[in-house]
Amino acid sequence: MRASTTFLTFALVAIADACGDGHGHDHHESHPYPQLTKPSRPLEWGDLNIIHTTDTHGWLLGHQHISFPEPNYSGDLGDFASFVKHMKDIALEKDVDLLLIDSGDLHDGTGLSDGYAAGGIDAHDSNQFLKQLPYDIMAIGNHELYDYINTWDMHTNFAPALNGKYLSSNANITVFDENNNTVSVPVGSRYRKFTTRKGRRITSLGVLFDFTGNDVNTTVQKVEDMVKEQWFAGAIEEEPDVFVLAGHMPVNYDNWPVVFNAIRAVHADTPIIILGGHTHIRDCVQLDGRSMSLESGRYMETIGWLSARLDGLSKSNITFSRRYLDQNRVTYEYHTQQDSLTFNTSHGSGITQGLKKLSDKYNLSAVFGTAPQDYTISRNPYPSNGSSLTLFVNEAMPYALTFNSSRSNVSNIMITNSGSQRFDVYAGTFDKNDQIAASPFTDAFVYIKDIELGVAQQVLPALNSAGADNRKRDVLEKREQELWRRGYVDRRYMDWLDEMDRRHDGAVKRASQNLTLGYVTSDSCPGIGDDTLHAPLASYDIPDFIASDTPSLSNDTLIDLIFVDYIQDQLLEILNQIQSEKTYSDADVDSYTDVLSNAVLGIYAQHAWN
Ligand SMILES: *[C@@H]1O[C@H](CO)[C@@H](O)[C@H](O)[C@H]1NC(C)=O
Ligand SMILES: *[C@@H]1O[C@H](CO)[C@@H](O)[C@H](O)[C@H]1NC(C)=O
Ligand SMILES: *[C@@H]1O[C@H](CO)[C@@H](O)[C@H](O)[C@H]1NC(C)=O
Ligand SMILES: *[C@@H]1O[C@H](CO)[C@@H](O)[C@H](O)[C@H]1NC(C)=O
Ligand SMILES: *[C@@H]1O[C@H](CO)[C@@H](O)[C@H](O)[C@H]1NC(C)=O
Ligand SMILES: *[C@@H]1O[C@H](CO)[C@@H](O)[C@H](O)[C@H]1NC(C)=O
Ligand SMILES: *[C@@H]1O[C@H](CO)[C@@H](O)[C@H](O)[C@H]1NC(C)=O
Ligand SMILES: *[C@@H]1O[C@H](CO)[C@@H](O)[C@H](O)[C@H]1NC(C)=O
Ligand SMILES: *[C@@H]1O[C@H](CO)[C@@H](O)[C@H](O)[C@H]1NC(C)=O
Ligand SMILES: *[C@@H]1O[C@H](CO)[C@@H](O)[C@H](O)[C@H]1NC(C)=O
Ligand SMILES: *[C@@H]1O[C@H](CO)[C@@H](O)[C@H](O)[C@H]1NC(C)=O
Ligand SMILES: *[C@@H]1O[C@H](CO)[C@@H](O)[C@H](O)[C@H]1NC(C)=O
Ligand SMILES: [Zn+2]
Ligand SMILES: [Zn+2]
Repeated sequence: MRASTTFLTFALVAIADACGDGHGHDHHESHPYPQLTKPSRPLEWGDLNIIHTTDTHGWLLGHQHISFPEPNYSGDLGDFASFVKHMKDIALEKDVDLLLIDSGDLHDGTGLSDGYAAGGIDAHDSNQFLKQLPYDIMAIGNHELYDYINTWDMHTNFAPALNGKYLSSNANITVFDENNNTVSVPVGSRYRKFTTRKGRRITSLGVLFDFTGNDVNTTVQKVEDMVKEQWFAGAIEEEPDVFVLAGHMPVNYDNWPVVFNAIRAVHADTPIIILGGHTHIRDCVQLDGRSMSLESGRYMETIGWLSARLDGLSKSNITFSRRYLDQNRVTYEYHTQQDSLTFNTSHGSGITQGLKKLSDKYNLSAVFGTAPQDYTISRNPYPSNGSSLTLFVNEAMPYALTFNSSRSNVSNIMITNSGSQRFDVYAGTFDKNDQIAASPFTDAFVYIKDIELGVAQQVLPALNSAGADNRKRDVLEKREQELWRRGYVDRRYMDWLDEMDRRHDGAVKRASQNLTLGYVTSDSCPGIGDDTLHAPLASYDIPDFIASDTPSLSNDTLIDLIFVDYIQDQLLEILNQIQSEKTYSDADVDSYTDVLSNAVLGIYAQHAWN
């Protein structure tokens, strides 16, 4: 039975391929993208199958630039909806279950979520499209909790539409009840029990990591406390056929084992499937032989696939498979045995059209200029011509900040944090959507005047080496931990890129292979996880802080030390360490310009890229 299903899949794919090649792939003509490589092999289906998304962050129109590796992620939510529909049909044919699950972070990332007009709510409009997909479970992410209004929108609009499928096991919101008293209630539901088409009983949760950066009037309960709750014990008491735990928590180095062990203490053998997120990486681990945990990347770059052969009464190890799919139409058509003419469903096309309308409504295609080349955060060294950090601090800030400033004739050094850049800038049009994706934070710029150049130029190295000696390393570690709890994940994501670059000996290997650039995942689950094989992207260490060039003047010249207000406390502390002539405080800091950090690239692009 199993074998014949597998053979059937191979046969269908072979026919579809021959057919597709024979008639030419029209989509390559109609698509502005370079030809995409196909997945390496068909998916392995089990009797319970899961399609997983996480950390979509508003990237619902996919990645639209044509520089490497963006076309790999060029599918959109409409294409994804068509994919899900075809996969559901295949599941029916095979007579197996197929679930659709999301692990949170729907807010903050592109113009579709963040480009709303004044008075709007982040991701309120883009979420209307996610609602249209047949999700079985969606879990809350930390980005749903930074602003009360967003959490409130999820509670009052999104969760009701999902009808019990939006899960927030340990995240509450404080609202007024009918008697005008304040009450803390779960944002969505704490758990969901349901039965699949094939009659499998499933118990599911939606767990958030120990996040502390949430807004007032939202509450995040620690995972270790959650598992001690009465409701938790009640929810897991009855044995389902399988626990399917979604949650915004990385599958490694976090608290999934706390939840897992709490369930294992009651049910020693029940299959447990975990769908995690938050660190934006591809990852998989098996906590025991009857469990698998999958994490499926970020930004609509990756679609996760997990299948299990759930074998009823047997207590032996379960056969699982997992796959990380590049999010594009070639992937989708390959795995659904469709071609470019048969693939689109009207529902999917409707979603694509709707998202394009939303993009127009938000003016996201308003062009600032045309970028002459790619600028990346960590795929080029800093400083270098290809570094978006260099672009930002050496070119864009010096232009955009002094443009209207009364102090533009005073020499300066400008400092900001590298975390201010969220996404690469790619060659081609640089529009409002690109600006929001690349540099979304609305920080102000401030300055201290009359700092000796010889002092000012010591600030950057001092900021960056704040971890050099042991005592300071502790301070740094504490800061990292604090940042982690507040939701900063870039460090883990970049460590992951570093690791894949090192493992493959970076550039050397790249040159000798014909593979295109992309993610090369190495996780602890059996077999190869990536659906399409790539050579790893380059990855360079980047400093936490970056600065403009030091003007070539004598050390005693008095200059303006300009910096982003976000780093004010740290900068003052450092400034008072490297000189003792004066003790600087907030009183010495003034506003430098009205231009906020999220406008810098646009102002620069209008000037330099037209
Ligand atoms: C990834 O992008 C590159 C560059 O456009 C392309 O050559 C390659 O075929 C893409 N791979 C996939 C799987 O889409
Ligand atoms: C889009 O542009 C139009 C016309 O310039 C303007 O009226 C509208 O407010 C803009 N919308 C947004 C979201 O910026
Ligand atoms: C609820 O309380 C607010 C102030 O906290 C008040 O403005 C409002 O009128 C009250 N509503 C009712 C129905 O009592
Ligand atoms: C969350 O809401 C529930 C229901 O009102 C309440 O019983 C629980 O104490 C709340 N949890 C937290 C951590 O606030
Ligand atoms: C938090 O909730 C309390 C009670 O509902 C309310 O008085 C307060 O204004 C709220 N704070 C914010 C920032 O919404
Ligand atoms: C079952 O899985 C566990 C954990 O992955 C492994 O240690 C064990 O060797 C496996 N047992 C068999 C019989 O394969
Ligand atoms: C299918 O939809 C995509 C957009 O997602 C569009 O580019 C393509 O032209 C459509 N194909 C057909 C045959 O309508
Ligand atoms: C970087 O840009 C500078 C100034 O435009 C130019 O002189 C230099 O040749 C460029 N270097 C590279 C490697 O492109
Ligand atoms: C510069 O100042 C003028 C006049 O105050 C203002 O209209 C313009 O928007 C400013 N430009 C920038 C980039 O801030
Ligand atoms: C800079 O310009 C201001 C007025 O715009 C002037 O008062 C000041 O002397 C100038 N400073 C230098 C160093 O040229
Ligand atoms: C200027 O100051 C820097 C940093 O304090 C120092 O390294 C350099 O030697 C000084 N240059 C001169 C000419 O004194
Ligand atoms: C790369 O492609 C070229 C031409 O398509 C082929 O001759 C060569 O053998 C390939 N190299 C590898 C390592 O596959
Ligand atoms: Zn995220
Ligand atoms: Zn997150």
